[in-house]
Amino acid sequence: MSKQTRTKIIVQGQGIVLEQRQSLVLGIETSCDETAASIIARYEDKNGNIEAKILSNIVRSQIDEHAPFGGVVPELAARAHVVHLDIIIAKALKEAKLDFNDIDAIGATAGPGLIGGVLVGLTTAKALCAALDKPLIAINHLEAHALTARLTDNVQFPYLMLLVSGGHTQYIEVNNIGDYKLLGTTIDDALGEAFDKTAKMLGLAYPGGPEIEKSAKKGDANRFKFPKPLLHEKRLDFSFSGLKTAVRLAAQKIAPLSEQDKNDICASFQKTVVDILCARTKDALEAFKQTHNDKPLQLVIAGGVAANKAIALGLKQVAADANASLIVPPISLCTDNGAMVAWAAAERYALGVQNDFDFAARSRWPLNDESMKI
Ligand code: KG4
Ligand code: ZN
Repeated sequence: MSKQTRTKIIVQGQGIVLEQRQSLVLGIETSCDETAASIIARYEDKNGNIEAKILSNIVRSQIDEHAPFGGVVPELAARAHVVHLDIIIAKALKEAKLDFNDIDAIGATAGPGLIGGVLVGLTTAKALCAALDKPLIAINHLEAHALTARLTDNVQFPYLMLLVSGGHTQYIEVNNIGDYKLLGTTIDDALGEAFDKTAKMLGLAYPGGPEIEKSAKKGDANRFKFPKPLLHEKRLDFSFSGLKTAVRLAAQKIAPLSEQDKNDICASFQKTVVDILCARTKDALEAFKQTHNDKPLQLVIAGGVAANKAIALGLKQVAADANASLIVPPISLCTDNGAMVAWAAAERYALGVQNDFDFAARSRWPLNDESMKI
């Protein structure tokens, strides 16, 4: 490790006592359609108590660029990251009232994600680290989501995380930094993707999740009965492509669709999703309890779909029924951002982790991969 975190020293009587160690970490996120940079201060006192402060968290969403296409266009995303990333990093430094020399380490998402975007962020981080002689920390985007609850709520290991975003739908046992067990995942579409594709089919705007939630409020959730694939099986996996097809067939049957028809489809779709998530989460909590029966039961939600109020309400009930505490970070930290990357990097940096400049960007990088272990 090229540089250790700075240490504030206080003098107590005759002896010198380490009061706290502080590290300042820059985090860069470019794996999908947000160009983001953030600076985190992480403090650890002599008893191992950890505190964190978000000094800046700048996110530039590319929604306007992708909206006309009804989804993220990888080439456009990568180009927009190239154009904006340096400005976003400069803003993050300015807002934190710091310059590059103050930074102890730089973390960047190295995957999984759209490879063009990941390359932009990771290469930028490598260039900065080489020029400034700072340690590079390659961050797994999923780990960044997984550890956010420790930044916002100081959650202790282990906990169960449900990650529901445009790219992922997973249950992960978060046992420690670098120690993750995948309990279940989607075998086809991610949940956010299912929301986006269903919305597109109904002629709603992108991103589809918030649009479906809005329409669902005005609809009859019991008008359509949609399938709940895999729910009869014991495994903790999801499948959403059958649900999407069922929505398409139902819409075709009653076309042309009135506004009320669309609202009813949205409400029925959302209700089906809530039912699926609640049933699965109940089973996932049960599975988690089997292997951690001596530990408090904690459920953490992450990812953009967590913004959905009907889903949040359903999961709150499931957690209460299971006697589990539910932790949902603020939605601005549930969706993609630089603070979660800076935080994951700060956690790894504190353990002495540093990556070589030949660390490759990865479009796929499961959390339970050997390379995650510390
Ligand atoms: O985590 P995120 O910002 O980006 C990644 O995919 O990594 O998640 C974006 C996804 C989109 O698919 C969007 O439609 C969905 O989250 N989303 C929602 C809601 N708000 C955002 N889905 C359902 N209901 C919402 N209110
Ligand atoms: Zn994400």
